[in-house]
Amino acid sequence: MARKFFVGGNWKCNGTAEEVKKIVTILNEAEVPSDDVVEVVVSPPFVFLPVVKNLLRSDFHVAAQNCWVRKGGAFTGEISAEMLVNLGIPWVILGHSERRLILNESNEFVADKVAYALSQGIKVIACVGETLEQRESGSTMAVVAAQTKAIADKVSNWVNIVLAYEPVWAIGTGKVATPAQAQEVHSELRKWLHDNAGAEIAASTRIIYGGSVNGANCKELADQPDVDGFLVGGASLKPEFIDIIKSAT
Ligand code: G3P
Repeated sequence: MARKFFVGGNWKCNGTAEEVKKIVTILNEAEVPSDDVVEVVVSPPFVFLPVVKNLLRSDFHVAAQNCWVRKGGAFTGEISAEMLVNLGIPWVILGHSERRLILNESNEFVADKVAYALSQGIKVIACVGETLEQRESGSTMAVVAAQTKAIADKVSNWVNIVLAYEPVWAIGTGKVATPAQAQEVHSELRKWLHDNAGAEIAASTRIIYGGSVNGANCKELADQPDVDGFLVGGASLKPEFIDIIKSAT
């Protein structure tokens, strides 16, 4: 089954109003494959979501970097899924390792967030990934399978989920996974989906890679059969993000 290539840009906690507008101008002026070939979703900080959504070209889309786990209310500082729907924000990144590790978001909590966002009609980029210690101890697949299982236990329809494998040891470090390392985990994740969520979900769910992707390493990664795209951090703030979009296969 053909899976549309997916390139996400996670801007993380970066940018000023001026810088954001400059990035959007670069994106709007870029010549890239059509949205039949590649799906592009950029994720600015919450405060810039409305302006980016309003200025961004219509064939690109926006994502929030998080949302709350249930209906809004007395949850100071949180942003609800309903608010994203109200703003017309179609995507959300959930379970990013920076939130799992810094804010102690558990597999269960992330899974509840995924289920709730989906229930409100928001599409989800769900992140999984192991730490260097976990990889070196040989528990990579056990870790990412547990993270994925937590989601699968609460979600039966994966049509609006993109699964992002982001090895923590590759995030922001410049130590990108080799194409073989990425392919190995992606194929194992697809096998896990096949065995636990069904053949259709395994065949159709996009599994994207994140962790030090840049304009130089993206093509070899994109050529891997089970790498369906990228979730890009640092490089998504730079013009080379366009090169990464063009690596769509
Ligand atoms: O969500 C994507 C991010 O974690 C990857 O960051 O800077 O290594 O591309 P970076």
